[in-house]
Amino acid sequence: MARQFVGRERERQLLDARLRDALAGDGQVVLVAGEPGVGKTALAEFAVTRAKSLDMTVGWGGRATEEEGSPPYWPFRQVVKATGGVGVELWDPRADRGPGERFRLFQAVTEFLLAAAQPAGLLVVLDDLQWADPASVLLLVHLARNVAGSRLAVLGTFRHTETGGLRAGLAELARESAVSRIRLDGLTETEVGQQLAGVTGWAVPATVAAAICERTQGNPFFVAELGRLLGSSGEVAAELPAGVRDAVRARLGRLSADCAAVVSAAAVAGPSWTRPRSRRSPTGPWLRCWRPSTRRLAPGS
Ligand SMILES: Nc1ncnc2c1ncn2[C@@H]1O[C@H](COP(=O)(O)OP(=O)(O)OP(=O)(O)O)[C@@H](O)[C@H]1O
Ligand SMILES: [Mg+2]
Repeated sequence: MARQFVGRERERQLLDARLRDALAGDGQVVLVAGEPGVGKTALAEFAVTRAKSLDMTVGWGGRATEEEGSPPYWPFRQVVKATGGVGVELWDPRADRGPGERFRLFQAVTEFLLAAAQPAGLLVVLDDLQWADPASVLLLVHLARNVAGSRLAVLGTFRHTETGGLRAGLAELARESAVSRIRLDGLTETEVGQQLAGVTGWAVPATVAAAICERTQGNPFFVAELGRLLGSSGEVAAELPAGVRDAVRARLGRLSADCAAVVSAAAVAGPSWTRPRSRRSPTGPWLRCWRPSTRRLAPGS
């Protein structure tokens, strides 16, 4: 749990309302999207605390894994286990053999979770869906189509920057009326100040909070890392903390060589820059890595 959870008033209210809807028999799916470190898991933890205070059962354990070798439906296997289905054998290996077998498995898991949601209400958390296997995403779509009239609330989190294998499923989910989406952005300057106070244990001057907010764009992971290095004078260390360096390296590692070159150039240029338009400027890397439909940098292949 976040040491001291700050901000996110609107998101907390929305989650609270959706949990109450589910408790009243109007099942819900909420998807929380955002960049790495922006606070998706922390918000999911808030939802768990809230659900417990409403006496709902919680099935956390749906964390997908990036490691190779986890069996299909891993997030759902974890959830079913956490929801008391220890001896339940739902994972029919024949499910890979064809649509009919797969449908039967989807239906069996859905019925199990809908039943587990009676009578107290059940919150299922599927964290890090960007790493889920494609079959799990299809199962989530099936579940979203069947939650109406149940006391089941499903909360899925994912990094919107890494949705490669998730895109088709997300498009399907967007059509379902039971699905709400939350897009998490960085914290405000005031909230960054509050988070820094929690991390350091003292009231950080507003000018320092503003500088850190600008440097981190309010990303709570980066704020916490920089906060830990704040000297007692309130000076922001010139050196980047190792955690930040590793996170930035990992993100750059997912980009193509062209995109990494553009990002490196942009890092020197500063926070505000535009795509060069002059015919003489070296636009090659730009054109190869810019995805016009989303105005984002394309990941490496
Ligand atoms: N609202 C908040 N208030 C205080 N601290 C926060 C808040 N949100 C996140 N944090 C802290 O920031 C760090 C990163 O948050 P979190 O792990 O939830 O990010 P994430 O979006 O799940 O990242 P990832 O994509 O890597 O899983 C954690 O230490 C968390 O406790
Ligand atoms: Mg997380």
